[in-house]
This record gives sequence, structure tokens and C-alpha cells, in this order.
Amino acid sequence: MPNLKKTCAETRKILVTNALPYANGPLHLGHMVGFMQADIWVRFQKLRGHQVTYVGGDDQHGTPIMLGAEKKGISAEQLVAEIEESHKTSLAGFGIGFDNYTGTHHAENEALVKEIYLTLRERGHIEVKTIKQAFDEEKGMFLPDRYVKGTCPKCKAADQYGDNCEVCGTTYDTTDLIDPYSVLSGKPPIEKESDHYFFKVSDFKDMLTQWKDSDALQPEIANKLTEWFEAGIIDWDISRDKPYWGFEIPDAPGKYFYVWLDAPIGYMASHKVHCNATQDDWASYWLADKSDESELYHFIGKDIVRFHTLFWPAMLEAAGYRRPNGVFVHGFLTVDGAKMSKSRGTFVMADTYLKHLSPEYLRYYYAAKLGNNVVDMDLNLEDFAARVNSDLVGKVVNIASRCAGFIVKRFDGQLANKSAAPELHDDFVNASQSIAQRYEKREFSQAMREIMALADKANQFIDEHKPWVLIKDESKLDEVQEVCTAGINAFRSLCIYLKPVLPELVAQAESFLNVAELTWGDLEQPLTDHTINKFKPLMTRIEKDSIDAMIEESKKDLANEEKSNIAADSPLGQDPISDEINFDDFAKIDLRVAKIIKAEHVDGADKLLQLTLDLGGDTRNVFAGIKSAYQPHELEGKLTVMVANLAPRKMRFGMSEGMVLAAGPGGSELYILNPEDGAQPGMRVK
Ligand code: 2FM
Ligand code: ZN
Repeated sequence: MPNLKKTCAETRKILVTNALPYANGPLHLGHMVGFMQADIWVRFQKLRGHQVTYVGGDDQHGTPIMLGAEKKGISAEQLVAEIEESHKTSLAGFGIGFDNYTGTHHAENEALVKEIYLTLRERGHIEVKTIKQAFDEEKGMFLPDRYVKGTCPKCKAADQYGDNCEVCGTTYDTTDLIDPYSVLSGKPPIEKESDHYFFKVSDFKDMLTQWKDSDALQPEIANKLTEWFEAGIIDWDISRDKPYWGFEIPDAPGKYFYVWLDAPIGYMASHKVHCNATQDDWASYWLADKSDESELYHFIGKDIVRFHTLFWPAMLEAAGYRRPNGVFVHGFLTVDGAKMSKSRGTFVMADTYLKHLSPEYLRYYYAAKLGNNVVDMDLNLEDFAARVNSDLVGKVVNIASRCAGFIVKRFDGQLANKSAAPELHDDFVNASQSIAQRYEKREFSQAMREIMALADKANQFIDEHKPWVLIKDESKLDEVQEVCTAGINAFRSLCIYLKPVLPELVAQAESFLNVAELTWGDLEQPLTDHTINKFKPLMTRIEKDSIDAMIEESKKDLANEEKSNIAADSPLGQDPISDEINFDDFAKIDLRVAKIIKAEHVDGADKLLQLTLDLGGDTRNVFAGIKSAYQPHELEGKLTVMVANLAPRKMRFGMSEGMVLAAGPGGSELYILNPEDGAQPGMRVK
């Protein structure tokens, strides 16, 4: 929790970071949750007059980036430079106002990574151990778990990753896989020994226990730490063998720092680049003995908590740097209640969104839904349009449009020298403390609720005074001017409150109001005896057509990605072709058209759907690992292709009597084969 004792009057020195996105593909709306949450918080702090520095960058090292560049036929440097440009453009498009954005491949990061490592080594926190790992002899490289596939030792499903089975959910070691093969060459990997460098996180158990109980962590995250402590703190493997795209470890030829070691140090490096350019004092933010001089906060997603709450504070402590005042963790994004799906068009890239809709719509919607907890957040597209149209267009902007016309046309843009509603003004000012606290504690949804309640009050005030009726009576002109002045002032206060969320709208409002950049301090003093400019519509309604067009284009994004075979989040692209089989083997497989007559969720199964299939009279019960890609209702009535003569298999949830065919790398990218209309259940597939 931030230090709330300090008031607005006392300037705080705050450094904020955002999780660094991987440089292996474009940003999507899931990434934007963390960026917007941090950006809104930063803008709020700046609006309050604090000295805030907000830094980020790309996470530019690791195996997927190395292989991604190889596949594109360019150098890794070139790939990360191109992606950094595209990320910066998308972020600017969403109004994310970084003070500096520098990727982890920067020389400043290399210097810091090496300095920190050498300090850790000098202080005895590094240990070398020999470990065994899967090795691809053809490719000449060790294979991370995700690069080894094989048959699940439990349910015997083919093509499962080296760490867990997507069909039955079992987790296991890569060495347990049956018939393992390297995703890179298709060949079985061998086991090979190699020396690895470990950071002894266990040396910091006491400090970490204290840190767990500090107010830097949300309660659910502190509980996670308790679980990890109970399981025992494991020392952290920070090295990878060549070939690897990263920084080489000093005095260890052929050994590289694991990407997760240099990634968070990237926060320090990005900030250093900023300090070098602005002559700010970097050390005063980072050195342990100066930790009282400033505050440090990291915004991250829930999947990277271990790195930020165990390894990172231990590393900082070990190297003589300060620990963060807060690690703020947010949940994942779902769209329309389900995981983002490329086939449904809900895996929306940031740039695709921007082609169809204003960034401010999404900033507001995310703000209206975000709290300071770790729960997932749903972008319900219908609710999105309804909420933005009702709150921003229907309530906030409406206040200005209802009042501005009278002021401009009848009073030459001149506001009255007093407002007709000092009590309305007081209501707005009195809400300031509570709204500020909501922002401070990242309870944005509550802040938006309070702000909209004020907007309702202002609209009620205008409804009650009816300036459009008063204007017809020449003797009531002063009253019209005063009522509209009150309305314009309410609008101005709403702009101040919403400025962290809607920077673009408020910038336009500032020029309409003919005022300098609004700050939190401007709330107290209303605008009277002042000339405003002509009102131009500040925001238009979201039309369903724009959302539909965005979804359609997202489906096309997927098709293009497949054509170019450079999957955004799968640098591996396609799997290699398996070993040959002869014709007799093939002829044994009886493939049939099947109609899905029923599809249901399976209690307790993460990946499976239970399908009832009609084979032209014969009905089969099949458990299919396609839950990540389909909702049951989308499947019912569809035709597909199944292996009809597969021996029934007993699974945890019942007997599975066949297998449906689907294509794709997995996750939301799985497509059941779908014969055209005309095919009949039971037909043989030739
Ligand atoms: O999970 C991710 O996307 C990582 N690239 C985040 C890194 S955050 C920080 F440590 F750099
Ligand atoms: Zn399995």
C-alpha cells in the first residue's frame, strides 16, 4: 500500500514501472489492462502535483525471440528493434504516457546486469551446479520444456508439451514423456549434462518473510508467498547455454543470463536512460540507503508474480538496492466471458482496436471495471458500448453540450460572475478526498462510480432548471447564464476527476473551456467571468458496426498470421511433420463425418468438453481437449470428422469412444475439422 500519510501538499518522488512485454509479437488488448492501470495511476499522481517518473520497455531476450528472428531470416537485434517501434506506436495510440521506453537489450541494462551479478557472486550468493536437460543434437541446443513434445504418460494423448498435458491436465517432467521429440527438429532429444549458475534465493528467507508481511503486497499475493515458503524456497537457475539470445555471463564463456534475470533489471536500466537524459539522480531512487527519498511501484500481471515478489526483492537486497514499496498485480482479460480467442475474433490486437474505436472508450471501460485485486476482468462488448455511451456520452459530455450553446450564442461565450448552484459546486469539491483515495488505492471502478454519481447530480440540476425554457423569457436571461455557468463548472470538475482516464477528451475540453492544463488544485475555484470557446462534440457514441468491424478484422489478422506463418505468440509456427507411416497403417484409420448433437462442460476438467456425436444412427461419447477454443453452444449442430474405430479409452471422467479431429497449435487456436453442408453423419472420409 502506498504511503497515504503524505498529503497532496507534500510532493512525493515516485517511480512507476510496467511489466515489459515480450518482443515477439504485437500488443493486444490483454496487454493494455496493465498499461492502462499503471498509466491512469501515474496520471492521477501527476495531476496531484507529485514528481512521477513512469518507465517501461520491451523484454528483448530469450529463445523464442532468437528462433523467431531465425525464422524471419533477420538478426535478433533487427527483430527486437522493429518490434520496439511497433510497441511504442501502439502504446502512444492508447495514450500510455511513458517518460522513457527502453528495451532490455540496451547497453545500460547489460552494464547493470553484470554489475549486479558480480556483486551477488562476490557476496557468495551464486552457486554452480551440474544439471541434466533435454538436448536437440541436430539443432545443437538445449531445449526449454515447451520445445519438447511427446505422448502423455497418463492419458496417452499425442503431441503434449514437456511440462503438462493439455488433454488430461497432468503435470510431469519432460523425461516422463513417451516418444519425446524436439519441436525444432522433430528428432528425439537426448539428455545432456551442463553446468548452470544458481542464485541462492534461500539466503534471503528472513528478509522475504518480512517482505511478505509488509504492506507492499496484496493479501492474495502474500498468501501465495506463504504457500511457496511452505513448499521450500528453491534456488533459481539464472543461466542458459549457448546458443542463446541474451547477455553473456562474465567469466563463463558460452553461458548466458536467463531472460528473466535481465528483464526486471530492465526497469532500472530504462530509468537510468531517462535520468541520463534529464539529469535526474538515479541513485537516489535505487540505493538501499536512500529508500526513504522516493517510492517505487511495479504494475504486473498475475502470471509473473514469483519473479517479482521472490526473486526480484532477493536480488535487489543482495546487490544493495532498495525494495519496491508495492508490487501491484492485476488479473487477466477475458472477452465476452471467455479467454480471448483468435477464431472468434476476440483476440484483438491493439492496432486493430485503434483502427475502429477511440482509445478513450477502452480506457474508461477498463477503469470502470478495475479494482485493486487480482481477479480477471471481462470486456463484455455489449456492456462496453452501453456503458461508454451512457456514462461518457450520455452523462458527462452531455452536460457541456446542454449548456455551451446558450453561453456561446446568447452571451458571447461569457460565463456569469456567479454560479446558480454553489451547493452543487460544494458537492463536487467535497467528493475530492474520497475520489483521490479511490485512485490512490487503485479502486478505479469505485472512483468512476463516484464520478458518475456527480455527473447525475449535475444533469438533474440542469433538468430542474430547464435553461431551454427559461431562455424564452427575456427577464430570465441572467438566470440562464448562471445555470449554464453552474453546468459548465460541473463539467469542468468532472474533467479534472476524469483526466487520468481520459487525457485526450480532457485536452479537448481544456481548449473548449479556454483554460490552461487542469490540475487537481483547480477544483476549489470555479470558473466565472470567463470566456469559453465554441463547443465541438467531444465524443461520439460507440456504434455496434465499429465493434463488429473490429472483430471481423481480428479474424482476418489470424488468417494473415497463418499465411505468413509467423505466429504472434508462437514463434515456433507449425509443428514438424511426423515420421512416415505406410499405406496399411493409414487404411486402418476409419475416419467418419460426425454430427455434434450435444456439447457440455465436464466438472473438474480444465481442458475437456464432453461431446455426444451422431455417426448416422450410432451415438458416441467423446471427451475432446478443445475447451480452450470453444464454448459448448458453438459446437452443437456442427459437423466434424472423427476417428471412429479408436479403441474406447477409460478417462477420469468416463469412457471416451473415439476422437474428433482438430488442427492448430493449441489454446484458443484449435479448429475442429468442419465438413461442408451436404456431408451426412456416418459418411466415410476418403
Ligand atoms: O511476462 C512477460 O510478458 C514478461 N516479458 C514480463 C517481464 S516483466 C519484467 F520483469 F521485465
Ligand atoms: Zn494426458
